[in-house]
Amino acid sequence: MENELKLEIIKPDGEVYTIYKYAKLDSTNEFLRKHCSSLAVYSVIWADEQTHGRGRFTRAWNSVPSQDLTFSILLPLTSLEQKLRQNITQIAALSVAQLLEVYGLKPSVKWPNDVLVQRKKISGTLCEVVESNKNVYGILGIGLNVNSMEESLTFIDIPATSLRCELRHKVIRLELFKKLLEIIINCFNVLCQSGFTQNRLELKKRLAFINEHIVFTDIKKESYSGRIIDLNDDGTLLFECEKRGIISLNSGEIVFNNLYLKRDN
Ligand code: BTN
Repeated sequence: MENELKLEIIKPDGEVYTIYKYAKLDSTNEFLRKHCSSLAVYSVIWADEQTHGRGRFTRAWNSVPSQDLTFSILLPLTSLEQKLRQNITQIAALSVAQLLEVYGLKPSVKWPNDVLVQRKKISGTLCEVVESNKNVYGILGIGLNVNSMEESLTFIDIPATSLRCELRHKVIRLELFKKLLEIIINCFNVLCQSGFTQNRLELKKRLAFINEHIVFTDIKKESYSGRIIDLNDDGTLLFECEKRGIISLNSGEIVFNNLYLKRDN
């Protein structure tokens, strides 16, 4: 499939990455999965429209063509310690949060991979690990609601927002995109060079619902009611569960409905 635009981004430190922009793809994560062995690491695939954008737990990711941002970046994971690979989706959420702060917003991270503004979802991140020819790659996909309007966000089954809704003006996507890529690559370099410590501190400052009563479901759909106490050193959640006492949660998600029931009551 022919890409419509190829942008070479050269950072001051000499690092080069290429953004390949497509008008329409099924999913940018899926595209990178198919082509990872023939692309340079740090290649970025940007689709103006995704026909089968996907989120965690086989959910769909829908965004407005030409208004929002849907892309994936190919990260080299071969020499990254196994235990740090689980932190990639978190540093992606942290990067988006840091980007939104540049735009004057006050985002928070709904563990592990959602970014919220005013408790509405503005972005989701999905990292998939693939192996090819003895190399390990992280395919880091990000969906960010940039210029979609309130009317289109009402079709999403959870409360959602966009930069445009929050800022009350349109945002130039390419400008925002370049800033975001720089932040992601910087956070990833920090992870590779010194582990999760620094990113963890930054993430903790922005962690949503800390000390609040929430309901959490794990991948087996088991529910845990209680409160988030802390973000552990390895990025798992320290949780005070009403029925089981203090536990660590390492997969699953915070239930959205519960948050809104709580806020509305
Ligand atoms: C989630 O909220 O569960 C994660 C959403 C991730 C969506 C992005 S959009 C770009 C990339 N391509 C996909 O198919 N998914 C990710």
